[in-house]
Amino acid sequence: MVVNNDLITWSDKFSSGVKLIDDQHKELVELVNEMFNHVTGNDLQEHNYFNRVINDAVSYVKKHFTTEEKLMIATKFDGYAEHKKEHETFILAVVENIKDYEAGKRLTLSTFTRFLKDWVLSHIALMDKKYFEYFKKVATRKADGKLSINSEDIRNASV
Ligand code: FEO
Repeated sequence: MVVNNDLITWSDKFSSGVKLIDDQHKELVELVNEMFNHVTGNDLQEHNYFNRVINDAVSYVKKHFTTEEKLMIATKFDGYAEHKKEHETFILAVVENIKDYEAGKRLTLSTFTRFLKDWVLSHIALMDKKYFEYFKKVATRKADGKLSINSEDIRNASV
């Protein structure tokens, strides 16, 4: 069995404590791992795979960003503008990388996936972490022990 050391292992250190966000982050991690699992070194195979999945992957990333941004607005998180800018910069970088990859320039599936991995991990660790504690304050612990943010929490947000 080939062991791919580039795969991301989900860890509690990535956890925001808010189920909706954690589920989406886990999905992003899965998405990156799935791409790594399709790095074969065969250009044609990799391009076919890439063409099949890239639109859905970008849509999922955008959906996640929208979720976070809506929660930030609803809870009046003061890091919203800075965070949104980071998201926008990332999407522009992804689009550029996709164009390059499709044009056969520089990138391989491996380098493209590494770029995604590095960004996702550093963004969660540095940017997303800034709202983790804040969201927890406005979240409610549910009967199942999970934290979630509902419309009442949002109405009661004090900042
Ligand atoms: Fe989880 Fe700001 O992306």
